[in-house]
Amino acid sequence: MQTVTMNDGNQIPAMGYGVFMMSSDEVREHLPQALEAGYRHIDTANAYFNEVSVGEVIRSCGIPREELFVTTKLFPQSYPYDQCKKDIDATLERLGLDYVDLFLFHQPYGEYASGWKAMEEAVAEGKVRSIGLSNFPVHKIAEIMEVATVKPAVLQVEINPYWNQHALKDELAKMGLGDITLEGWYPLGHGDEGLLAEPVFTELARKYGKAPAQIILRWSVQEGNVVFPKT
Ligand SMILES: NC(=O)c1ccc[n+]([C@@H]2O[C@H](COP(=O)([O-])OP(=O)(O)OC[C@H]3O[C@@H](n4cnc5c(N)ncnc54)[C@H](OP(=O)(O)O)[C@@H]3O)[C@@H](O)[C@H]2O)c1
Repeated sequence: MQTVTMNDGNQIPAMGYGVFMMSSDEVREHLPQALEAGYRHIDTANAYFNEVSVGEVIRSCGIPREELFVTTKLFPQSYPYDQCKKDIDATLERLGLDYVDLFLFHQPYGEYASGWKAMEEAVAEGKVRSIGLSNFPVHKIAEIMEVATVKPAVLQVEINPYWNQHALKDELAKMGLGDITLEGWYPLGHGDEGLLAEPVFTELARKYGKAPAQIILRWSVQEGNVVFPKT
C-alpha cells in the first residue's frame, strides 16, 4: 500500500476504508472483508456510533496493531478543553485501543481552539500519534494556528474531480500550511453516476484496462491526497 508522509513525519496509507453510515453489524461483517482485501487504514468517528465494533474487529483480525492505521474524530460538543481530555480517553476505551494513529476534530464549530491544546497533550501522552481537522475552512484553521504548538497533520474534506480543492490547497500554501496532507471524503462523489461516466475517465479506463472508479482514485492519489472509497 502506497503511503504519504505527514508533516509530523508519520506515514499514512494513501487509501483507507471509511465506515460512515455502517451499523455495528455491518462493520463486523464488512471490515474483516476490507482487511482481507488489503486495506490497513480505517476511518471512523465518534458520530458514526460504531467504534466499539471497529475496535472488536481490530483486536480479533490477527493483523498486528502497528500494521493498522486507525483514525477517529471528535464532534464539537467534545471540544472544550476538559471535555476534550475526557472524550479522548472515552474514545480509546470504546475502541479498546491504547492509541489511535490519527484523531480529528470532525466539524468546524464550538470551542476548537481550546480543545486543540488537549489534542496536543494526547500526542505528548502517547494516546494519539497525529492530530488534524475535518471540514475546517482556512479562517478557522488560522484561529487554531494562533494557539497551536503542533500543526494539524491532516485536513479531511470532500475531494473528487468535480471538487478538486485546488483553491483550498493554494490558500493553505499561502498561509505556510502547504505541508498539511489533504484527505478526500466522497472520492467517487458518493457514487455519482455522472462523474463515473465522464468520457475522460471512461476513455482512460479503456486505455489502461481499469474501471473508471480506479482512474478517479489514481488521479486523487497522484494529487497527493489520501482517499476513502467504499462499496
Ligand atoms: N469527514 C466527513 O465529514 C466525512 C463526510 C462524508 C464521508 N466521510 C468519509 O468518506 C468515506 C467514503 O464516503 P462514501 O462511501 O460516500 O464515498 P465514495 O466512495 O465516493 O462513494 C461510495 C459510492 O461509490 C460507489 N462505488 C464504489 N466503488 C465503485 C466502483 N468501482 N464503480 C462504481 N461505483 C462505485 C458505491 O456504490 P456501491 O455501494 O454500489 O458499490 C457507493 O455508492 C466515509 O465512509 C467516511 O469515512 C467523511
